[in-house]
Amino acid sequence: MGSTVITGIGSLVTNDPSIGDGPLGLLSDAAVVVADGRIAWVGPAASAPAADEGFDAGGRAVIPGFVDSHSHLVFAGDRTAEFNARMSGAAYTAGGIRTTVAATRAASDAALDANVARYFAEALRQGTTVLECKSGYGLTVEDEARALRIAGRHTDETTYLGAHVVSPDYADDPAAYVDLVTGPMLDACAPYARWVDVFCERGAFDGDQARAVLTAGAKRGLVPRIHANQLTEGPGVQLAVELGAASADHCTHLSDADVAALAAASGTTVATLLPGAEFSTRAAYPDARRLLDAGATVALSTDCNPGSSFTSSVPFCIAVAVREMGMTPDEALWSATAGGAAALRRTDVGRVAVGARADLALLDAPSHVHLAYRPGVPLVAAVWRGGERAA
Ligand code: NIG
Ligand code: FE
Repeated sequence: MGSTVITGIGSLVTNDPSIGDGPLGLLSDAAVVVADGRIAWVGPAASAPAADEGFDAGGRAVIPGFVDSHSHLVFAGDRTAEFNARMSGAAYTAGGIRTTVAATRAASDAALDANVARYFAEALRQGTTVLECKSGYGLTVEDEARALRIAGRHTDETTYLGAHVVSPDYADDPAAYVDLVTGPMLDACAPYARWVDVFCERGAFDGDQARAVLTAGAKRGLVPRIHANQLTEGPGVQLAVELGAASADHCTHLSDADVAALAAASGTTVATLLPGAEFSTRAAYPDARRLLDAGATVALSTDCNPGSSFTSSVPFCIAVAVREMGMTPDEALWSATAGGAAALRRTDVGRVAVGARADLALLDAPSHVHLAYRPGVPLVAAVWRGGERAA
């Protein structure tokens, strides 16, 4: 692969404060050289070195590709009716997951794979160059392992979520289901997963069950992350911090002690906010400002799934986070790129610095602020992933 120089970048977000201004490391009139899939040079356009090929950004903005650290894309079926009912006043409950479980079990491998491919492509067109993907709509040993095998064809960031909700087959014996999840199902899934997750919530798994799932996964080399404090205050956030989880996701209902714990653990456990879920369940948004002011590390992700948040659009989440959650446009952009990378414990993505993977999004806009200023407008004009033009 030859080298490419991207010139005419009106505004470049590097997320490297040693390269440019502020936490975003902003550079104006910049250029980037990409070689062998990596960033080879970053700096003022006037001093850009020559390369095999050139691309003129025409004064537009370039940002790191989005790192979306939370999605559930191995599924079949449709939950339009449930969404419709919610928008007529019905409440969201964890139980809707079982609707998708039935459809997913009935689907062929090929159908599931095609669905995953479709949503990964959709996300890529919107600037997402790293996308985590969970199992959790199979809930049998075979169906969970199958989900992770399929997810693994599309991403390295695969998460075992056998503990999404108690399987309908174990409705009368949740303890036996936890034994399955921490035993034979974990054995079958661990080879295909990097992470282990659990939905710690009323109607799903309590604190003791969540602890059992995460510690069993950790013993098998999977790193914990957790669905915590989404619908109610609960033990999830404290458990995440105690176990050194990579992230506590949702963080919608937090006590002062939860916020303090996330702030104290800011180098280890990221607070991942998923505003698509509150949007699509018509619920109150998490308070990003409170977390940021306390010193927590915050990531923004889509939670793309057919039940609670059927959007693959990080730009949409950025716009909502800025309008409704007290984030500045700079903070939201950082959280959707560097924050997502931190939540996945990745240093090779989420920034534009020499040696990083060449994952870039070109915006049809003069700066990243337009992602919030122009909500709902498809501003991503081009995407490079690993140095290759991908969209
Ligand atoms: O992150 N919270 C648990 N899991 C998903 C919802 C999945 C569903 O409703 O199908 C979430 O919101
Ligand atoms: Fe989720």
